[in-house]
Amino acid sequence: MPFSKLAAAIGASVTLKLNAQAARMRAAGDPVVHLGGGEPKSLAPMAAIDAGIAMLKTGEIRYSPAAGTPAMRDAIIAYTRKFYGRDVERPNVMASAGAKQAIMVALLALVDPQDEVVFPVPYWVSYPDMTRLAGGVPVPVRAADGSFQPTLDEMIAAITPRTRVVLLNSPNNPSGKVYNGDWLRGLVQYCEERDIYVMMDDIYHRLVFDGKQAVHCYECTDREVDDSRVIILNGVSKQYAMTGFRIGWAVGPRDLIQAMANIQSHQSGGPCSLSQKAAIAAIEGAQGSVGELRQTLEISRNELVALLGEIPGLKADKPEGTFYCFADFRAFDEDSTRLAARLLDKIQVVTVPGIEFGMEGFLRLSYCGSIEDVREGVRRIKWLLDENGAPELIAGDKVFSR
Ligand SMILES: Cc1ncc(COP(=O)(O)O)c(C=O)c1O
Repeated sequence: MPFSKLAAAIGASVTLKLNAQAARMRAAGDPVVHLGGGEPKSLAPMAAIDAGIAMLKTGEIRYSPAAGTPAMRDAIIAYTRKFYGRDVERPNVMASAGAKQAIMVALLALVDPQDEVVFPVPYWVSYPDMTRLAGGVPVPVRAADGSFQPTLDEMIAAITPRTRVVLLNSPNNPSGKVYNGDWLRGLVQYCEERDIYVMMDDIYHRLVFDGKQAVHCYECTDREVDDSRVIILNGVSKQYAMTGFRIGWAVGPRDLIQAMANIQSHQSGGPCSLSQKAAIAAIEGAQGSVGELRQTLEISRNELVALLGEIPGLKADKPEGTFYCFADFRAFDEDSTRLAARLLDKIQVVTVPGIEFGMEGFLRLSYCGSIEDVREGVRRIKWLLDENGAPELIAGDKVFSR
């Protein structure tokens, strides 16, 4: 018997599939260089670990309220005041099992069958399938000039009477692009006037380089949070290197947050109470680890972009944030899936094909691993792409040949 139409329409997450493949190759002893990852290598803040251990030792690990514990919601309120300059109340916030679930629940609360969800290209891999899971129609918007940010006119041209949500991520996975303030302001105002929700995925908002900061959506609206159409999605995964804890959150108008909490209550219940305890400690504790992570990433970014610049034909814009670089490999292969497979097969370097983010001919290279990984990965890529290079490349005990 076939599975549902929905199951047939949804594929496995490509990045998670690549992670599994890299782990299998590593377990078999292969010197894999993983430039496909999506999580910092640093450790979770000690305060988070201690808080988790202390709670675990009580043996009282119970269900949490569907929207998160009161303490978790208060930590999100404090975070919102600190980073967004807005005073919100408990009914405006809810915690989820990662930003991913918060995004999904928001889409489920907003999107009816055939409603459209508009987002710029390149986009995070999950947005199209999350939209489909909610019954909606993904509408990716491409910049005619091939850049990483469509113009405001291009975004507006994609909005129709069926548009329910505009979904943004800045700094952006995969491009590292920070959307500019006037553009964001124009878009938020256009959407709010038409009752269209702007979902802002801010999961990388503290990982911006060169002393800059990303403009956030609450800077782009004068409305009170309850009257606004802005929804902020965020979490502890990237900034605190707490991906496995699975804690994210949403901030928005209270009627929407209530609807989202209702859905979440039946879907999964409240997020893991132990993880919430750890997340609160991370948010309320010393913030030094975030700055250290940002500095380490900035050094790796500089190294990666400099090394890629030494490969003739390859184009790589300097990412302004995140830990990804979206590089243009079209001079070597127009088919990013084929090229990524070749890199994995020939030189055991994991990358993610650009087609998964809506841009063919590009590869996403992560620099969240060690700087040695960055250097070794680019050394191998440079060798493989250089048709006049040596017939063999030595990597530790391994010899790669063309
Ligand atoms: C743009 C973007 N949004 C959301 C997420 C998911 O974050 P979380 O781990 O909090 O679910 C990711 C993770 O890779 C991401 O890149």
